[in-house]
Amino acid sequence: RKGGFRHFMLKEIYEQPDAFANTLSSVKRCSEIVDSIKKARSITVVACGTSANASLVFSYLMESVCHIPTRVVLGSEFKYFPTPGTDLVIGVSQSGETADTIAALKLAKSLGAQTIAVTNVLGSSITRVASSVLYTRAGPEISVAATKSFISQVAAFMQIVNLLTDHSLEAELAEVRRYIPDVFTIDLSKAVDICKDAATLLYIGRGMFYPAALEGALKMKEISYIHAEGYAAGELKHGPFALLSLETPVIGLCFSSTVYPVMMSNLKEVKARSAPLIVIGKEHDADLEEVADVCIMLPDVSEYGSVILSSIILQLLAYHTAVALERDVDMPRNLAKSVTVE
Ligand code: M6R
Repeated sequence: RKGGFRHFMLKEIYEQPDAFANTLSSVKRCSEIVDSIKKARSITVVACGTSANASLVFSYLMESVCHIPTRVVLGSEFKYFPTPGTDLVIGVSQSGETADTIAALKLAKSLGAQTIAVTNVLGSSITRVASSVLYTRAGPEISVAATKSFISQVAAFMQIVNLLTDHSLEAELAEVRRYIPDVFTIDLSKAVDICKDAATLLYIGRGMFYPAALEGALKMKEISYIHAEGYAAGELKHGPFALLSLETPVIGLCFSSTVYPVMMSNLKEVKARSAPLIVIGKEHDADLEEVADVCIMLPDVSEYGSVILSSIILQLLAYHTAVALERDVDMPRNLAKSVTVE
């Protein structure tokens, strides 16, 4: 069932070109749901773990591109501050069985909000709670670590934004699938060597690359058991700087043209404090080589594509680090694929 791969996680990482493309096309056919999102005055998204990280990408896009206020609340926290006046609440869950997300959606419904479920599993519990359902098309995900389901959720959200803006992202989204396999051939051995001996790793990014950093860190800690934290790069100087030393590698996501200069100065600040620095950026950005100890160069695609490609490289970095440490990659200790208790 692993199709020749050593672990389900690796197989599922390699299934991402199809997961991405299948989800893009299936969401394109969900015009009624997209219409109801268009009518919302404000949106709250409830989710946990990786699904919450994907939802943060959605909130960045909805607010910056569609100008619809969109906040993300963790499923387990929603009951403490259900937004007054939110007319649409979207529950995002790969499994469709996460108790906290389902409870949040039920509460939202009882408060009169319209509800939508975004899930990967046909007929799962969340589909019976929400007024309508949008399916991601990742296919079954066996490994505890979410990989292709994350990429599918982000694909669904990018497609929603594309449809809400008269296909403004069509060209950007169309090229992504083609470039994903290029990421699989990148040699990560130098980066793995730095990560596997670390006690703590910091992941930093700005804009949509901030949720990508959160997700990269979650993946690393989940399967390698190395402590890892994601930060908005601008937050480093508000506390985490104190951690920086030779023993604290930093992984920087440095892409989009608007945030590039300020990310560069953040990377230089990190380097000045002796922390080993792994930078993930675009080929042709040669100045990254000057600041980084290890540079991982991805194909030169749009910012949307870079979010996808950099998230995949972070999945692979976590995977190869966990393999190097001989961890139980598909079944990490103390975790379950679906968390069905609150
Ligand atoms: O099935 P869900 O998307 O609701 O699951 C939520 C989290 O439990 C899940 O994403 C978890 O964080 C992943 N195992 C992380 O890889």
